[in-house]
Amino acid sequence: MKKVGSASDPLWYKDAIIYELHVRAFQDSNGDGIGDFPGLISRLDYLQDLGVTCLWLLPFFPSPLRDDGYDIANYVDVNPSYGTLDDFKHFLAEAHRRNMQVIIELVINHTSDQHPWFQAARHAPPGSPEREMYVWSPTNQRYKDVPIIFKDTETSNWTWDDTAQAFYWHRFFSHQPDLNFDNPAVLEEVLKAMRFWLDLGVDGMRMDAIPYLYERDGTRCESLPETHAAIKKIRAAIDEGYTNRFILAEANQWPTDVRPYFGDGDECHMAFHFPLMPRIYMALRQEDRLPITDIIAQTPALPDNCQWGLFLRNHDELTLEMVTDDERDYMYLAYSADPRMRINVGIRRRLAPLVDNNRRRIELLNSLLLSFPGTPILYYGDEIGMGDNIYLGDRNGVRTPMQWNPDRNAGFSTAVPARLYFPVVMDPIYGYQTINVEAQLSDQSSLLHWTRNMIALRKLFQVFGRGTLEFLSPENRKVLAYIRCYDGGPNSSSETVLCLANLSRFAQPVQLNLAHLAGRVPVEMLGYVPFPRITDQPYTLSLSPYSFLWLEILDGSEAPAPNTADGEAAIIEPELRITQPNQT
Ligand code: NOJ
Repeated sequence: MKKVGSASDPLWYKDAIIYELHVRAFQDSNGDGIGDFPGLISRLDYLQDLGVTCLWLLPFFPSPLRDDGYDIANYVDVNPSYGTLDDFKHFLAEAHRRNMQVIIELVINHTSDQHPWFQAARHAPPGSPEREMYVWSPTNQRYKDVPIIFKDTETSNWTWDDTAQAFYWHRFFSHQPDLNFDNPAVLEEVLKAMRFWLDLGVDGMRMDAIPYLYERDGTRCESLPETHAAIKKIRAAIDEGYTNRFILAEANQWPTDVRPYFGDGDECHMAFHFPLMPRIYMALRQEDRLPITDIIAQTPALPDNCQWGLFLRNHDELTLEMVTDDERDYMYLAYSADPRMRINVGIRRRLAPLVDNNRRRIELLNSLLLSFPGTPILYYGDEIGMGDNIYLGDRNGVRTPMQWNPDRNAGFSTAVPARLYFPVVMDPIYGYQTINVEAQLSDQSSLLHWTRNMIALRKLFQVFGRGTLEFLSPENRKVLAYIRCYDGGPNSSSETVLCLANLSRFAQPVQLNLAHLAGRVPVEMLGYVPFPRITDQPYTLSLSPYSFLWLEILDGSEAPAPNTADGEAAIIEPELRITQPNQT
């Protein structure tokens, strides 16, 4: 008997709105300065109200926390700082009760050097089962062409271990030895850990650093056939034992290189679209749609049961690995004035500071996130425009406590401030006294309200998560225009949406060739406002600076009546309860 997941639709992840958060950063319930599961449970109503449908938890396992928990010391327990396994189960039940799915991390490329497997391996004789859990070598000259990922910290992918009298392989920090997938016992252990969490009812897993499982001489040790074979086995184990679960690939690669991670629909259900993200920022700064249309043109079609995961920011640096050298120089210049904002191959900043706290730019970028083909992933705090702290080490500047209210420690914790795992942001622009949930809840024009409205709107239309995409090519390249179409099948109506985004800081005119839609009526989706009927002539619109428009294309008979003379909309969708976007 398969174990049933919490979602009812096997393709639920296509319609999901994912919210990425760290338990440590969200809410502290016991005053020790560290967020925990009871704290997170107390904030679930907030997340439900925001409208997100799936929570992605960053690693919460026992760990020395030298890589924020991606250095795991025990796969099947909870870090005591965050609570107990029972607390996790309680959290999971509470999230499910609110119709939210939960995905967690499956970090299988490496463990912490404090993991008992590694400690045993160091002491065990070469060739023994214990030693063979990791990748060892008498020399550090093997796999010399393999790039170093954390190049600000590491000088080699090999580190000497005095106890073992050998080098061990690591693609990330030297305290994160890579597991040896050539040893079948490793995959067995991975499957055990995975089943442990799936049995508890977890709905999905993000597969961290998935391209690097195997090493082979003469290669870059990435995306090897053996790696795909291992992923297929993981997927088969999921399909065999469980329903309605999913796996999400973290493969920071070009779209055509990521495509194999979907297999024939028998590897990962979803993969992040890494190269799109920097190009959204680039298009905005260059006021030119080309970087976006170009990368989407290079994005291959996916099997029907698969989906791209889209994001603007996450817990890592804004990675610039998937851009050309010129583009990287441009991005550094445009988005990281202070060298302290740079780390490895990227920029460690949050969304709001990246766009100079410009509300219209924040909204514009979110409109793209919510209307491009894929599942949007929001990073905690970005819904209120939280700032960062570039004086914290590593990528920790974007991992500061959630800002709930203007009280002590932003309402995150009652601990003495010095005890917090990281200080709350305190500067005059992004500090918690200015940027916090409580203030924004009481302000109808806040970013938080806006985000909530947009999420609510997106959820009314399956076209965003499931539909096709076609770019229009108006002459004005500062305007991005695309049509999303979804034929819902025999039991639901089809949906067609025209999206426009003005990437410029100035107002822009645009003429669209919509002759194939002649006779139909575009209806602005936030206000349900009908626009002039489409004809076979060019359709002309003017867009204010950094504005976006979502227009549902309805048959003439379905469209609301034009606005009445006194300016009131003739038809108001009661279930939407959404307000006009604030254009400040
Ligand atoms: C990818 C994670 O996103 C990142 O935070 C981590 O440092 C590396 N994997 C290594 O575990």
